[in-house]
Amino acid sequence: MTAAGEEIIRLEKIYKIFGPQPRGRAFDLVKAGYGKAEVQRRSGHVIGLNDVNFSVKKGELFVVMGLSGSGKSTAIRTVNKLHDVTSGHVWVDGVDVQTLPQKELQAYRRDKMGMVFQHFALFPHRNVIDNTGYGLKVQGVEKEKRDEASLKALSLVGLEPYALNAPSELSGGMQQRVGLARALASDPDILLMDEAFSALDPLIRRQMQDELMDIQSALHKTILFITHDLNEALRIGDRVCIMKDGAVVQIGTPEEILTKPATGYVAEFVQDVDQGRVIQVEEIMKDSRPIAQGASLSDAISSLGDRDGAFVTDPEGRPVAVLTGAGGLRATVRGATDLKSALRDDFEKVSPEMTLADAYYAAGKGLPIAVVDEEGVLIGHLDPRDIMEEMGRVERLIEGFEREVFL
Ligand SMILES: Nc1ncnc2c1ncn2[C@@H]1O[C@H](COP(=O)(O)OP(=O)(O)O)[C@@H](O)[C@H]1O
Ligand SMILES: [Mg+2]
Repeated sequence: MTAAGEEIIRLEKIYKIFGPQPRGRAFDLVKAGYGKAEVQRRSGHVIGLNDVNFSVKKGELFVVMGLSGSGKSTAIRTVNKLHDVTSGHVWVDGVDVQTLPQKELQAYRRDKMGMVFQHFALFPHRNVIDNTGYGLKVQGVEKEKRDEASLKALSLVGLEPYALNAPSELSGGMQQRVGLARALASDPDILLMDEAFSALDPLIRRQMQDELMDIQSALHKTILFITHDLNEALRIGDRVCIMKDGAVVQIGTPEEILTKPATGYVAEFVQDVDQGRVIQVEEIMKDSRPIAQGASLSDAISSLGDRDGAFVTDPEGRPVAVLTGAGGLRATVRGATDLKSALRDDFEKVSPEMTLADAYYAAGKGLPIAVVDEEGVLIGHLDPRDIMEEMGRVERLIEGFEREVFL
C-alpha cells in the first residue's frame, strides 16, 4: 500500500441515463428516488449511474467493484469523457473534465491518463516496441525518444527481452502486459484500468496483480481499477468502492469492507469471500519445470536456479521424487555424484482445485509440493513458503474481522 496524498479525481453527484431523452422523465424518476428497475419499467431508460460520488487520492490504487451491469465501465468512462454525463461534475486535478472542448480534451487524455481494457488489441504487424510506443508516435514523438520510453515501460512489465517480437509470438498474459506498457509509455499520472486482468488465467492474473502493485509503489501512479471480482479488489485496492445498479453502496479500505459491511448486499458478498478466500492452489502454483531425464547430480542442482526444488518425473510426466536445494548440497558434501542419492520421495501431492486451507497440511514438511492433474501428471509446483505467506495475509484480514465481532 502506498501513502496517498491529496485528491486527484472526484466524481460529484454523477447521473448517467441512457436513452433518447436522458434529462426527461427518467431523470425526474431517478431524482425522486426510484431505482434502476423501476425507472426502466416506467420510462424505458437505463440508469447507468445514479448519484455517484467518490474521490481518488494521488498515488492511490482505487478499485471500483460490482457485478456486471452495475455501472463500473460507465463510471470510469466519465473520467476521460468517453461518456458525457447527464448531470454532475467530474474533476481531475481541478479541471471539470466534462466542460473541456474537443481539442483540449484530446490533449488532456493524452497527457494525463493511460487506459487499459480487458481485451487489449495489438497491431499484429507491428512489433512489441512499436505497439508500446504507438501513442507516442501519434503525439509526434520522434522514434529514438519513443523507443527509449517504450523500453522503459516494457522493462516495468518484464517484457524488455520481447521488444522486437511480433504480438503473435506472445501469450495472452504477455499481450495484456504490452497493453499496460503502452499505457505507461507516455508516463501519465493516472491509469484507468477496466477489467484489465479479468480475462487472464488465475495464476497469470495474480502475477499481474503483484506487478501492478509493484509498479504502483515504485512510480506512485494514481490507478482507477475496475473489477467484478471482490477477491481481486480486496487484494490490490488501497480503497474499494462497491457499486450496485449504478449507485455506490460502500467505499472503504479492504479491512473496512470486510469488517463493517455497510449493507446486507455487501455482507453477502463478504461472506462469499470468507469462504472463497479460499484461494485455490492453481492461483499461486508456479511452473513445474522438472529435472531433465538422466541428469547428473550437478546438472540437476544447477537447473534449480533460485527455485526451492524440482521434481523428477516418470516417462508419463508423473512426479516420483524431489530434489531440494538443501538435499543436493548435503549429497554433494557427502561426495555423492549420482542424482538418486540426493532425492526424496516423501513429498506431498495436491490438486489444482484444492484451497490453500486444504493444502496447508502439505506445507508442514517444508518440502516442495507437487501439483498434479487427475492422471497424476505434474502440472505445477508449490513452495510451502508461498502457502504460508498467502494464508498469513488472509489471516490478517480475517483477524480484523473477528476483532470487530467480539469487541
Ligand atoms: N451505450 C449504452 N446504451 C444503453 N445502455 C447502456 C450503455 N452502456 C451501458 N449501458 C447500461 O448501463 C448499465 C451499466 O453498464 P456498465 O457500466 O457497462 O456496467 P459494468 O461495467 O459494471 O458491467 C447497464 O445496465 C448497461 O446495460
Ligand atoms: Mg464493464
